[in-house]
Amino acid sequence: MKKKIERIGVITSGGDCSGLNAAIRACTCSAIRRGWKVYGIHNGINGLIVRPMEYEQLTLASFEFPFATLGGTMLGTNNSNVLSYDSGKREKISEQEVVARFTEGVQKLKLDALIVIGGDGSMTIIANLCKRAHIAMIGIPKTIDNDAPGTDLSIGFSTAREVVMDAMDKLDTTAASHHRVMLVEVMGRTTGHLALQSAITGFADAVLIPEIPYSYDALVKHLRAAQKIGRGHALVVISEGIKKPDGNYAIANDGATYFGVSSATYYGVSQYFQERLKKDGFEVRTNILGHIQRSGTPVAADRLLASAFGVHAIDLLAKGKTNRVVVHAKGEVSDISLKESISLGTTPVNPRGEIVKVAQSLGIYVGEVDQCKKRK
Ligand code: F6P
Repeated sequence: MKKKIERIGVITSGGDCSGLNAAIRACTCSAIRRGWKVYGIHNGINGLIVRPMEYEQLTLASFEFPFATLGGTMLGTNNSNVLSYDSGKREKISEQEVVARFTEGVQKLKLDALIVIGGDGSMTIIANLCKRAHIAMIGIPKTIDNDAPGTDLSIGFSTAREVVMDAMDKLDTTAASHHRVMLVEVMGRTTGHLALQSAITGFADAVLIPEIPYSYDALVKHLRAAQKIGRGHALVVISEGIKKPDGNYAIANDGATYFGVSSATYYGVSQYFQERLKKDGFEVRTNILGHIQRSGTPVAADRLLASAFGVHAIDLLAKGKTNRVVVHAKGEVSDISLKESISLGTTPVNPRGEIVKVAQSLGIYVGEVDQCKKRK
């Protein structure tokens, strides 16, 4: 017989984003209604690993402060590249030590299950730890990259898209005034969902994403053709994870590989395009939007998604279902197994999908779709 749930832990892990507080709140409200105790673990799993442990009991009063309008996470978070550090002392500890301390932490707090609000990297690492510590886990996907496995939406994406669109609206007027090419570098790591959807909503002329190879010459031809028909400026969205015109990546930080998950980050590829475009006679400016994409008041779509995901996670535990990941698919909130989620890996943009077609039909240069392999 499955163990009756009495005490759960909630963790936010990986890069922060807007909507995390709404998810923590939803889990807490829903669990407390069932008479369970809820513990918010601080700074991702670090709260269970450092000694003394760092956590707080969450009650309805924990949400008295107006968190609704804030981005970030009230619990704090960590990225996989700092998982191996005892946070206060910044001492590197081994994977083996992490497992031992995590297991001890879970036992000390007498947790029956852990809700992990994280991206695919965190989900993989913490699933591994939960398995070794014999604790049930439910995953809730969050990432501005919107590439979490098995879900068409992740917490944080809608707000990030809004932030980029707003930035592009502002850049459009200054670009138009000066007749310039404005490069807008957007986050997304190895996937281009944020860049592609921002290019459509921000009325861009071109978008370059990791999933579709581009031709630099074709991009230039596209910009010149626009100039010829009277468009005096251009907005070009560049996903941070594309290759530079010389074929290499602009890696900001190789990152550590921990429990098999790499934490490499990208930064600054757009500057290489600025150099090339200048040589080709364009007046160009570069804007690397950076971490503002992970922040800002969560939009309604993120609050709704986070609330629905949190409630669904608690419902799963109440039904005795464990080791599942909540997803949004075909317009519904549902769930898939943790195993399936991990095996799927990140979800790339489909180069022949509807959203790419919309961009192409709007006249946006999206790269050389013909060079992409057809999906089975
Ligand atoms: O995965 C979310 C994300 O914001 C990526 O889009 C970006 O490449 C990365 O995290 C940045 O990570 P960090 O906050 O560690 O610089």
